[in-house]
Amino acid sequence: MPERWTPDSWRSRPIAQAPDYPDREALAEVEKQLSTFPPLVFAGEARALKRALARVAAGEAFLLQGGDCAESFAEHHPDNIRDFFRVLLQMAVVLTYAAASPVVKVGRIAGQFAKPRSSPVEKQNGVELPSYRGDIINDIAFTAAARTPDPRRQIEAYRQSAATLNLLRAFAQGGYASLARVHEWMLGFVKDAPRSHDYKELADRISESLSFMRACGLDPENHPELRTTEFYVSHEALLLGYEQAMTRIDSTSGDWYCTSGHMLWIGDRTRQHDHAHVEFCRGIKNPLGLKCGPSLKPDDLLRLIDILNPDNEPGRLTLITRFGADKVADHLPALIRAVKREGRIVVWSCDPMHGNTITSSNGYKTRPFDRILQEVKAFFSIHAAEGTYAGGVHLEMTGKNVTECTGGARAITDEDLNDRYHTFCDPRLNAEQSIELAFLLADLLKAERAAKSKPLAAVAGL
Ligand code: PEP
Ligand code: CO
Repeated sequence: MPERWTPDSWRSRPIAQAPDYPDREALAEVEKQLSTFPPLVFAGEARALKRALARVAAGEAFLLQGGDCAESFAEHHPDNIRDFFRVLLQMAVVLTYAAASPVVKVGRIAGQFAKPRSSPVEKQNGVELPSYRGDIINDIAFTAAARTPDPRRQIEAYRQSAATLNLLRAFAQGGYASLARVHEWMLGFVKDAPRSHDYKELADRISESLSFMRACGLDPENHPELRTTEFYVSHEALLLGYEQAMTRIDSTSGDWYCTSGHMLWIGDRTRQHDHAHVEFCRGIKNPLGLKCGPSLKPDDLLRLIDILNPDNEPGRLTLITRFGADKVADHLPALIRAVKREGRIVVWSCDPMHGNTITSSNGYKTRPFDRILQEVKAFFSIHAAEGTYAGGVHLEMTGKNVTECTGGARAITDEDLNDRYHTFCDPRLNAEQSIELAFLLADLLKAERAAKSKPLAAVAGL
């Protein structure tokens, strides 16, 4: 029998990656204040996302999750939110068409502020200071004052999340996300893309389908589903005091939901089964993600699944695998087999970012586009070989024209990284690289769809 869960039962467990707040009183005061603030999302929305993810688990939909590695206070600008949203929707249209199934859109946004770090301290020119842990905790500037964890930043992060979410809701529901408009953006991308001929065929086919739909009377004016879209938000559940303060009982179901975002995930560094982050997440009813890196053994994964999804509910748990292009073939098959053998229902999603980070010749943390693509391709082919469904991708990306990941059709080089390297944490795909990846993913999804429909074709041939 598991011990009783309460929103604060994590506090008696060991905890990794926790900031050291010097002013405990101020921290308690902030947490108290946050717990009286309005929820950012509703339990009913989290349940809708869980249902959508259950369809992904069943192989009937695809999950597209993406956004900044870390949101920042400095980049809180409507244009950034708009540009990210536009790019994610364009990717979703391409993927929806290729997969011929719905795409569940989940942003790493409106709460993605806290970062786990590989070292608690950073050294520069002989000076040692606490590492930057994300804007919700401390400031990136390399001074003792900036790096001291400040609880008041949690209020600022809450306010920014609320404003971001408000704009996203308006975009999603207010007509900005109309299918016709997203299609026009996509055509604009294809026209300017360095490899436009590679994308033109698929883009033309989408155009034809839309003309056909319009001719049949299916247009955005009389069909609201073509004018609006479902869009969800997610972040890593790292700063547990903040998450606890946002956790409330849903009056409809009587269950606990963390209202800081629709979906929360547990990072690769905080997934110890008897530690605080797993303890907190097991008690909230939101759909959960679990990052699975190279150190995760099949037995550990099964134990985590037992804790996080004891009733084997479809849509509850998304396994986000992040091994690196060179390691995925060594690790993924054993995890898939264990999960399959035990009959556990999960969404399998591929994070091709975190296992493929390297240092460029001129000292930047970067990710080569080819390695990202290589891990995604391996993810698809391993699932095809194991007879399981490659259900989604999890990307670090932005709508801006940054130069943080090398390669892609514009062949960004190590030298180019100097131009527009803006990330507060890990390197992100820029707008063009993100849409390019969607077009390349489209081929993989089409192949997956063809493989799925084979038995049907055989039946039809009888
Ligand atoms: C992240 O998603 O930004 C992250 C830190 O990932 P991981 O926990 O997989 O290393
Ligand atoms: Co990251």
